[in-house]
Amino acid sequence: MCSIIGYSGNGIAAPIIVKGLKRMEYRGYDSVGVATESENQIEVKKGIGKVNEVNSKIQLDSLPGNIGIGHTRWATHGKVTELNAHPHPSNSGKIAIVHNGIIENFEELKKELENEGYNFKSETDSEIIANLIQKNYEITKDVKETIMKTVSKIKGHYAFVAMFENGQLAAARFHEPLIVGVGQENIFLSSDVLGFIEYTDNAIYIKSGNFIILENKEFQILDFEGKKVKHEITKVSKEFGDAYKGDYAHFTLKEIYEQPDVILRAGETTIEEIEKAVEYIKNAKNIYITGSGTSYNSALIAKQILSKYVKIKAEPIISSELQFTPEVIEENSIFIAISQSGESADVLEAVRIAKKLNCKIISIVNLLTSSLTRKGDVILGMNCGPEIGVAATKSFTAQLIVLYKIVQKLSENITINFEEFSESISKMIENPKKIQKIAKELKNVSDIYILGRGINYPIAIESALKLKELTYIHAEGIPGGELKHGPLALMDTDVFVIIINPNDSTYTDTLTSAREIKARGAKIIGVSDIESDVYDYWIEIPKINEILYPISEIIPIQLLAYYSAIEKDTDPDYPRNLAKSVTVK
Ligand code: AGP
Repeated sequence: MCSIIGYSGNGIAAPIIVKGLKRMEYRGYDSVGVATESENQIEVKKGIGKVNEVNSKIQLDSLPGNIGIGHTRWATHGKVTELNAHPHPSNSGKIAIVHNGIIENFEELKKELENEGYNFKSETDSEIIANLIQKNYEITKDVKETIMKTVSKIKGHYAFVAMFENGQLAAARFHEPLIVGVGQENIFLSSDVLGFIEYTDNAIYIKSGNFIILENKEFQILDFEGKKVKHEITKVSKEFGDAYKGDYAHFTLKEIYEQPDVILRAGETTIEEIEKAVEYIKNAKNIYITGSGTSYNSALIAKQILSKYVKIKAEPIISSELQFTPEVIEENSIFIAISQSGESADVLEAVRIAKKLNCKIISIVNLLTSSLTRKGDVILGMNCGPEIGVAATKSFTAQLIVLYKIVQKLSENITINFEEFSESISKMIENPKKIQKIAKELKNVSDIYILGRGINYPIAIESALKLKELTYIHAEGIPGGELKHGPLALMDTDVFVIIINPNDSTYTDTLTSAREIKARGAKIIGVSDIESDVYDYWIEIPKINEILYPISEIIPIQLLAYYSAIEKDTDPDYPRNLAKSVTVK
């Protein structure tokens, strides 16, 4: 996944574009580049690394002109090199493009263009768009005809912005996001509203299969057949303004500390939708819950709380697996899809399969403008505000709160005091000194195991995911009882083991596992509301309603992963090789 942006307005384009790219860097940060047009000349600057690094080396923001395009890349086709960085100029240098997505037939198109004399400098699929546009523009001399001809040739999922040497911009969307920001003095074409929110809160969400042509501040939106389409201007929630780090060193830290507030507001605006979801669930023959990564871990917890508290069976499915085992789904079932971004390709594909089987879709999603939102029969907003850090933190808590609200509605016997819970979490993370001390110990460790039983097992897996992403340390979640069936062989004096051990029905067995591990010399970090001599380090969690333990367990581990990343000098907001939303399969 990448971010693309185009700008035309009264301001100097390059610094505005650089700021927008900085905000959208969560979408990919392998390389960055900007191209602007001034006096009918296109100039490009690009480099490997994050926006600030590259900008301080080669001053992307010093390019001249009031029109420009920019890109941050998450490499899919071709290595992380300067040549593969966008923008890509066409052979004549009279057109430059930025692209997000995948062109599936790029090899075939590349051969065709090469036979016609075009050269390619990069290994990307994107560069063919630049040359195809050049070719079509030389034939038609018309931007509209050029884009129509170009999109009729390319196959795949994409959004691109093309800049012509006369200063015209054009952008097309096919299953990748493209949003127009309409300011008084400026027009933006962007992958995310974060690209322009500082300048305008008027947005047009371009539909898949449409394109836009922009000259100065005049624009037309058309479908791929060239027919004009009506557009609606939406006011973007001011909440996007929250996407600042404020006084925090990193977004990840800020987002971890926002969780007491998330506990109070998650699912708040969706009471009616929760009631609708509850009706679907009550009357369902079969229920499936899907997600990827952290969102799948929420699905594992959903299964447990639904069966334990309301005796409803639900089957979790890893989204990326469903295409290989579609027969596990019964027709006319309820299919719950969990996704922070609402753009994960694997989740969208799973939903497509479920829809084909006539299932009703309940989407639990944070970005309400996302593709998943448009596919749901019931939409439950997580309402946790923008999550910029690549590692999911507050969105996990928000997903669980939404699920708790569903369970609460399904049962008369469950009362959860969210205010009290939020306060106890605030208190727990008020002083992170102890966690910072443990993080120093983890700096040179090469393996961390995390043990949990029952509902605490998904937390063990989620903890491992956070540690891997943020610290690059090998981490593995283990169901406590499985220890003696193999993993015990790994325990020695070099290993750290985190024991998720709240005072629930798993407590005694898990404490026994901790003793077995300790006997092999490993260091034990206990996450529990009860202290024990077996723990070398004790992370105390509040004594609370046991349904809430998962949230109180994961938050200190998120902090531990964060502070360990600081110790190891990795970037917690932008872990290597990852992107916030994985919009490719
Ligand atoms: C979590 O820390 C990860 N960055 C990742 O596993 C993420 O949860 C997954 O890609 C799913 O994303 P989604 O919720 O936006 O669909």
